[in-house]
Formats: sequence, structure tokens, C-alpha cells
Amino acid sequence: MRNTTNERLVVLGGGVIGLSCAWRAAQDGRMVTLLDPAPGSGASWVAGGMLAPVTEAWPGEEDLLALGVESVHRWPGFAADVGESAGRPAGLRTEGTVVAATGSGDRAELDALAAHLGRLGRPTERLSGRELRRLEPAIGPDVRGGLSVPDDLAVDNRALLAALRAAAEKAGVEFDPRSARQVREDDGRVTGVHCTEGADVDADLVLVCAGAYSAGLHPSLAGLVRPVKGEILRLGRRPGALPAPRRTVRALVDGRPVYAVPRPDDGLVVGATQAETGFDTDVTVGGVRDLLRDVERVLPGVAEYALLEAAAGLRPGSLDNLPLIGARGPEGLLVATGHHRNGMLLAPVTADAVLALLRGEPVPDPARAADPARFAAADRREPASGSSERR
Ligand code: GLY
Repeated sequence: MRNTTNERLVVLGGGVIGLSCAWRAAQDGRMVTLLDPAPGSGASWVAGGMLAPVTEAWPGEEDLLALGVESVHRWPGFAADVGESAGRPAGLRTEGTVVAATGSGDRAELDALAAHLGRLGRPTERLSGRELRRLEPAIGPDVRGGLSVPDDLAVDNRALLAALRAAAEKAGVEFDPRSARQVREDDGRVTGVHCTEGADVDADLVLVCAGAYSAGLHPSLAGLVRPVKGEILRLGRRPGALPAPRRTVRALVDGRPVYAVPRPDDGLVVGATQAETGFDTDVTVGGVRDLLRDVERVLPGVAEYALLEAAAGLRPGSLDNLPLIGARGPEGLLVATGHHRNGMLLAPVTADAVLALLRGEPVPDPARAADPARFAAADRREPASGSSERR
């Protein structure tokens, strides 16, 4: 049933989460304004596009795995809806993922990952190096074994952002190029948004989807989301170079994780570093060197590829690596942020959860764990996985 309320929803942030939520809310009949001076240009633009709940799963993060598995199941329907609404493809790739290991220490980690996933009932298949190369001839001889994970998908993030923007515009979302400074409230109720320049924007409901910048937008979010830098490379196949893999390839190289996500026309996105250096988006020489060295160990043919782009994005890290999806602070304030390494993956389930909240309905079951109420008013615990390393 379409919503006929006259309330105005203002969405702060036009990354994959903000665009998805704004589009779904407008499709549902709401008046929606999305505030962002450059929608689709932040971390979502830099992302690799892995939709990988299983291979990004870490022991102890079972709520995140359950949320990711729920979302990956929603992905095909979500991509079809976005594509149909936008009149352009959403960029979903369904070839699956392989995980590759080089040295014996890496194979031991792979055994631990396979055992963990087996205990959780996730489908995986152990493969020898030769079997992996039969699946993906681009994988080189240094790879001694691996796993096939058919359930993990991928998306061309830039195709998705363009499609979401088109879908949102067609659904009636108003794009406002001002920057949000602070949520405005009166007597415990949201009334609008103060902007960095120009007049305020009035709102009945505000949804914070500002990724790494969310914590500064309302005191109730202070300390709950922090920037976690990630550097990636974009490579393009040149004439005569070996074809790129069809599946996403994740690998451990002497204990360091690296991934290569295929793009149309034999391109690859290679990622990613992980560092807690604040709001810093410099691409470092060391980051580029490490990524190139490690991806070449796994996919030797990339030495002949063109290095098209090196970029850094700021993942929005939360205190426990689960996003925050739900009400927070004054009446009328909702948040959908803190998606850390999983913004692309979690967009469908997040948008559905936000839609449910707007309608006063229960959120999808696995999204209940993401309720921001799990954090006390001034919670500033140490992050779940701090440090400066690759994952
Ligand atoms: N989801 C992969 C990354 O954040 O690097």
C-alpha cells in the first residue's frame, strides 16, 4: 500500500545507503529531499562492490553475517527493481567468489575460514590450486589451494549509483545540493536541518545516511561512527594481456588479504587497505605498492594491465562493525549508517528496514540486531577492530 502522508523526509547523504532509502521511501509515496552536494561521490564511488557476507565473515560477527546473508538474498530482486525503475542496469554480477591462498600459513587460515563457514551452514567447496586454475585460468602458480563460495556476488558500484540516482529522480526524490551541518530539533522533536550555507531545510523526519560523517550531525551519534580509510586500484586489460577472472577473487598472500572484483570489459578493482587515520583520503605510495605486489602474486597477468585509477574512501566504522539502523535521539530522527565494509552488500536490507520503520512495521528479523538502541547515550567503547591493517 502506498503511503499518503504529507510528512517530509529529509535524507542526509547520497551514497548507496542514502540513495537506496530515499528511492524506496519516494516509491512508497513519501515526500523526500536528499541533501548532498555531490551524491554518489564518496566511499560508495570508491567501493570494490563485493557482495560478500560469507567471505567477509569473521568469527564472532554472527549478527553481521546473518544481516549480510539476508541482504545478499534480497540483492537479485533489488537489482531488478532498481534497473526497471531507472531504465538502466544496476550492475549485479552473479558469477560468485573464489578464495585463494598462497603459503602454508595462508592455507591454515583458509581451513579455519572453511570450518567456521561449515559450522554456520554456509555452502563452500575446497579446491586444489589446479582446480582453482581450471575455474579461473587467470590465477597463477603461487596459489596452492582455495575455496569456491558461489553465494557471494558482486556489483559494479558506479553502474549501481547511476541507476539508483535515476530511479530516485523518477520516483520524485528532490536532490538539494546543500551540505547538512546539524540536525535541528525543538522540544525533543526533529524540525529540520541546519546547512553549512544558506537557509535551513524543514523536515518532519530526518534520516542520517552520511557514512563516516554521520557522527557530527547530531549529538546522539557522537562517537558511534568513525572513518576507516580504504585504498583501491582500478586496472584495465590492455590488448594482448590475459583475460581477467570472471569471479571475484579474494586471496591471502603471506597473511595479507587482497581482492580483485571484475568489471565489464575485463577491468578489475583491486582492494583494499584499511587504516584508521581520520578523515584522510590521500592515496599512499605504500598502499599502492602493497596492493599491486599482492594482486600480482595471485593474478600474474595484471602486470600487463593499465593502472587506471588509485583512490581512497572512508568506510563508516561502527563500534561493533554492525550498522546502526533505526531511531536515535529526538523523535523523528532515524539513522542508517555505520555500514563499514558492507555498504553495497547491506543496501537492500537497510532500505527495506528503513521503509518498515517509516511505515511503523517490524524491520526484517536480522536487522533488529542493528538497532542503535544497543548503544548507551554516550557510548564510546573501543572499536571492534581498530588498527591499521588489511582485512
Ligand atoms: N568491502 C570491502 C572493503 O571495504 O574493502
